[in-house]
Amino acid sequence: MVAQDASRSASAYNEFLGNMRQTAGANLKLQQELVYSWARFWPNLVSTRQDWFGPLQELHQNWADALMGIAQNQLDLWDKQLDTTLDSISGFKPQQKDVVAVATKSNPSQANSISVSRRSDQTAVEVHSTQETGGAMNIAQKVAVVTGAASGIGAAVARDLAKRGAKAVLLVDLNDDVAQLAEEINDSEKRDVAEVHVGDASDPVFRAQVFDDAYARHGLITICVPAAGITRDALSVRVDKETGKAILYPLENFQKVIEINLIAPIYWAIEMVARIAEDRTRRGLKRWGPEEEIEGAIVFLGSVSSQGNKGQISYAVAKAGLEGAAATLMKEAIFHGVRCATIHPGFTDTPMAQALGEDFLKKNVLPYTQLRRLIRPEEIADAVCFMISNSAVSGELWADAGWHPPA
Ligand SMILES: NC(=O)c1ccc[n+]([C@@H]2O[C@H](COP(=O)([O-])OP(=O)(O)OC[C@H]3O[C@@H](n4cnc5c(N)ncnc54)[C@H](O)[C@@H]3O)[C@@H](O)[C@H]2O)c1
Repeated sequence: MVAQDASRSASAYNEFLGNMRQTAGANLKLQQELVYSWARFWPNLVSTRQDWFGPLQELHQNWADALMGIAQNQLDLWDKQLDTTLDSISGFKPQQKDVVAVATKSNPSQANSISVSRRSDQTAVEVHSTQETGGAMNIAQKVAVVTGAASGIGAAVARDLAKRGAKAVLLVDLNDDVAQLAEEINDSEKRDVAEVHVGDASDPVFRAQVFDDAYARHGLITICVPAAGITRDALSVRVDKETGKAILYPLENFQKVIEINLIAPIYWAIEMVARIAEDRTRRGLKRWGPEEEIEGAIVFLGSVSSQGNKGQISYAVAKAGLEGAAATLMKEAIFHGVRCATIHPGFTDTPMAQALGEDFLKKNVLPYTQLRRLIRPEEIADAVCFMISNSAVSGELWADAGWHPPA
């Protein structure tokens, strides 16, 4: 009896949400049309009268503010209606009274979009005046997570994402030096964009907390660059000169490298896909289509070592494993509108490469690198941002400065 009541209540609740979405969709379509007609008119006007640009921009902003006000009032009204309806339904309370959402997707051929979303503790109304062509992913206003952000490539990616206008960049690292980086980014961007999350990237509880916290504060994470990585280099078989005994690469090192460099990045990526999938389901969306914006992007940090490198049995396996993960996610995650790719950096000037020692780098790395220098972390960050924002890019990018090691 209780189960029956609960299921009746659940279907009443779902029906109510469905009706809400339909009404909201119709109202917002009307408002969106107004924005589009203005956006179509705007470029012609500005190209003929440059001196009108400033006043027109101001007018456009005022108008966008007014639209947001209207949408906000409408959401307040729905909020009250939702509470009344929920009160009248007995025996069923949704676990998360979290979304009465309408997202009007930007139209590929036109130049503006409005999105309105209501989450458990906030209502967000956004009018995007930038052109977002179908299938592209604009970093501006997106929420990004970067693991291994305290150092090297992760830090450079975090800086670059903030510079390109990300709404929030979550800096994840074991090392609490990450707080200094957040301060530096926020100072240089003159806004609170970087957020610190100190913890172990391979810990599933910590990972879920980062996603929950980000959702409550900023909305869905839609960019994921899981860059945290370690090395435990040694030959797979080494013969002890004194005893003549062969020593195998330590199993616990192998397991650790796989856990941090392979399993953890995959789980950060699929946690993001899972949350995007749930959000789409709540919004009544099914298979992603090309008329929509891209929902999310993942870039894994592979390595030139994925092709094999002496002394790096565990690291090479982990990095090659990421290729398989990316190739699979590329096929699976696009169902939910998420792209996935892998960058394979060559030797990059970070603490990880510096740990090899100056002599080793001079003797074994620089002679086999066409650029005859280490790659700068900013160069890898630039390539990662390019991979995120250019949706035509898929698969793998070799950013190796012309690495051609001897056999
Ligand atoms: N530097 C290179 O030459 C190079 C080349 C190819 C690929 N990569 C890859 O790029 C990524 C970044 O490397 P980097 O050179 O910037 O290294 P780095 O050592 O400078 O930075 C790695 C960061 O990851 C963090 N980290 C390690 N384990 C962690 C864990 N369990 N949880 C949270 N944070 C953790 C570290 O604290 C550190 O801040 C790695 O995946 C690495 O394998 C580096």
